[in-house]
Amino acid sequence: MEVMIYPTYEEMSREAARVIADLLNTKPNAVLGMATGSTPLGLYRELVRMHKEEGLDFSRVTTFNLDEYVGLGPQHEQSYHWFMHENFFKHVNIPPQHIHIPSGTTSNYHAFCEWYEKRITECGGIDVQILGIGSDGHIAFNEPGSSLMSRTRLKTLARQTIEDNARFFARPEDVPIYAITMGVGTILEARRLLLLANGKNKARAVAQAVEGPVTSMITASALQLHPDALVFVDHDAASQLQMRDYYMWIQQNKPGAPKT
Ligand code: PGA
Repeated sequence: MEVMIYPTYEEMSREAARVIADLLNTKPNAVLGMATGSTPLGLYRELVRMHKEEGLDFSRVTTFNLDEYVGLGPQHEQSYHWFMHENFFKHVNIPPQHIHIPSGTTSNYHAFCEWYEKRITECGGIDVQILGIGSDGHIAFNEPGSSLMSRTRLKTLARQTIEDNARFFARPEDVPIYAITMGVGTILEARRLLLLANGKNKARAVAQAVEGPVTSMITASALQLHPDALVFVDHDAASQLQMRDYYMWIQQNKPGAPKT
């Protein structure tokens, strides 16, 4: 795990975009795993800027989103289909047939989940999976207690998540209770993981994920099992990391390290 600490959210987002741009420069047909939520917005803004101003090309890119609320159609303003379209897809040149987002309105969730997993494999697997982290330590909608081997499936959301999300819905009873989500096992198969976190309210979850025991109670701790996991955080989100000085020391001295 490589922990990178940035003074601001903007800088963290720019560096995360650099990781994606470097990948696309070496592999223009890369498969990207996308995340929703407020955290990756700065990253998406920067990628859109690179597309518009620097010609970063997405025409051969394929994407898979982590999750979607059950019951919300693509036109619902709180659906992740809508979120992705508004904040990213409509601004770049990914062919619509290359975009995959779990369906929140399928008639057969079990069959859909199986198809989603198969489709990831058919497309060659995910090269970089972007991740946020919930205040309860979840990745995607893998709530505390989710198996670290779990696959794409239906999940009942934790109360904490429903409360965190309530601000986006007119009435608390409108917040969906179920989601369809990639599993922790699915996520761990991506070749590279890029977890982003900013703000004081993520500091505890980040510390648990990076330095705590690997446990299904903090599904983000499964990143410790991955050979190529990047954790990009701002100062606030890094504030409870015990080894913070060490990560910053590495970050500072990395350019001089032997390359081979
Ligand atoms: P946020 O959500 O980016 O809106 O904080 C992250 C998550 O719950 O995974």
